[in-house]
Amino acid sequence: MTHIPVLLKEVMEYLDPKPGDIILDATLNGGGHAEEILKEVGENGKLIGIEQDMEVLEKLKLRIEGNELWEKASLINGNFRNLDELLALCKIEKLDGALFDFGLSSLQLDESDRGFSFQRNAPLLMTFKSGPGPNDLTAADIVNDWGEKDIANVLYGYGGEKYSRRIARGIAEARKKKRIQTTFALVEIIRKSVPAAYRRGRIDCCTRSFQALRIAVNDELNVIEEGIKKAWEMLSEGSRIVTISFHSLEDRIVKNFFKEEAKNGKGKILTKKPLVPSDEEIFLNPRCRSAKLRAMEKGVQAE
Ligand SMILES: C[S@@+](CC[C@H](N)C(=O)[O-])C[C@H]1O[C@@H](n2cnc3c(N)ncnc32)[C@H](O)[C@@H]1O
Repeated sequence: MTHIPVLLKEVMEYLDPKPGDIILDATLNGGGHAEEILKEVGENGKLIGIEQDMEVLEKLKLRIEGNELWEKASLINGNFRNLDELLALCKIEKLDGALFDFGLSSLQLDESDRGFSFQRNAPLLMTFKSGPGPNDLTAADIVNDWGEKDIANVLYGYGGEKYSRRIARGIAEARKKKRIQTTFALVEIIRKSVPAAYRRGRIDCCTRSFQALRIAVNDELNVIEEGIKKAWEMLSEGSRIVTISFHSLEDRIVKNFFKEEAKNGKGKILTKKPLVPSDEEIFLNPRCRSAKLRAMEKGVQAE
């Protein structure tokens, strides 16, 4: 199974890459969007792709081996929060467009052994980075070593989990007996901690806690804020930044950043309301249902 690029037509319309452009895809993954961008920038253009997950990047490299279209691409393993340094290594000083498609792909959710999915038993890591080192924060560190109140705050603040306190209590009790090491161990604790009706609800009772832990582990909200600011600074006049977010916390960061830049006359918001997938796209790719696309064009605006 491959990851289906979300809002592909809309991304291309709003990013509007032209022959000779240098475009950043800050969240490369399977290269679905990148491939379309490469077709547009042509022989004299360039695509810089950043991907934090080395396993994903290796898979992409295998797929594109010998593919001429990808000769104009530089693929970098790293975190887009450091995109200024990463682009400097490629001697790129200006960008003619930047795309951010946040979160993780369906492939990572289905196939990764890093514990993103509550439906798959795996070590409780949740790091986008494959092979985290001893100094990298993992979900196991949070549930085993953080205070009960801090865990509840993460579950509520990043997941909107209404039973955050009960779940944090369950975690604190369970870890007294044994360190919580796997996704299924955590799933069992969550299920035991919440009311039966919630366990049978439309949304799985583990969804919000897993999302919250992933956001905390990867410091996702700060990373997004830093990444889009840096990309925006590197954009040439008249070029565009396009973002796709999957939950309201991500979307709010982008929305506020765009508003602030527009207020300061630094650019024009192209999407007054965020674009969302059509019913047809949701039917073909149900996981895209919460996607929201925002776009902004850089350029000094007359007062
Ligand atoms: C939703 S997928 C992108 C899908 C891609 N646009 C496509 O169509 O194939 C998001 C990707 O961004 C990567 N990612 C998430 N946060 C990142 C970060 N801070 N720096 C670099 N890559 C990141 C994830 O590992 C994942 O592969």
